[in-house]
Amino acid sequence: MIKSVDLKDIDRAKLAAAAIAVEYIKDGMNVGLGTGSTAAWMIKCLANKIYKEGISIKAVPTSNQTAKLALEYQIQTTTLDEVKFLDITIDGTDECDKNYNLIKGGGAALLHEKIVAAASNKVIIVADQMKYVDSLGSFPLPVELIKFGSSSSKECIVSILNKLGYKNYQINQRMNNNFALKTDEGNFILDLELTKILEPLLLSRELNLVPGVVENGLFINSCDLLILGEKGGKVSVHEPSRNMVSSRNVDLDQMFHEFKY
Ligand code: A5P
Repeated sequence: MIKSVDLKDIDRAKLAAAAIAVEYIKDGMNVGLGTGSTAAWMIKCLANKIYKEGISIKAVPTSNQTAKLALEYQIQTTTLDEVKFLDITIDGTDECDKNYNLIKGGGAALLHEKIVAAASNKVIIVADQMKYVDSLGSFPLPVELIKFGSSSSKECIVSILNKLGYKNYQINQRMNNNFALKTDEGNFILDLELTKILEPLLLSRELNLVPGVVENGLFINSCDLLILGEKGGKVSVHEPSRNMVSSRNVDLDQMFHEFKY
């Protein structure tokens, strides 16, 4: 049996946050499942919750990778088209600033993640404490664009960045084993190394006006609850709308002891 001490510190932090997040999932809910390593811990916690409490939910995965995980853990899935609206979505993030704006897309699933978030009544973001930053931009901003004319779209992005006063930035095509990475929708991703994003809403709007750009990784005003974990099992729960932060503790060893999956 795995013990929590066998995990890396970062995974203990992600798991602690994930364990608290799944408490918000109730019987009969339609649930959006995020993508990435923190979301993967959440899916493991959810599978165990379903087993332990005998609840029934319908899940909408945000990527092929997450759909595979859900299948592995016997979580019943459906499509967003089938349910149209979701009660709750739990997803990870690459960065979250003090205004609860996010950079997402490090796992290349930003397009489905944004659509799922927009269809959700409540979006819960789970992360390790290190992802909570003063301002966005240390993590490169992913932009998803269609393959046709992507070099021209990239030039439009350069013009926008220059117009908005960004300097010394870099734009990198996301690669996968020496080939341009393709998202689940068959699109490309450009990673914008900006160092610091000053006006996330303005940048997001401008980027999405570029023909060929499908979506960008800035998630503005979409986080309803931020749950941050620490390696020792301490978890802080941020409620932006009430400007409130509370603390909880998760006994990771006890949790593992009770896990079936
Ligand atoms: C997937 O495209 C992303 O938005 C992820 O939610 C984000 O990259 C966080 O991933 P980790 O939990 O693996 O850090």
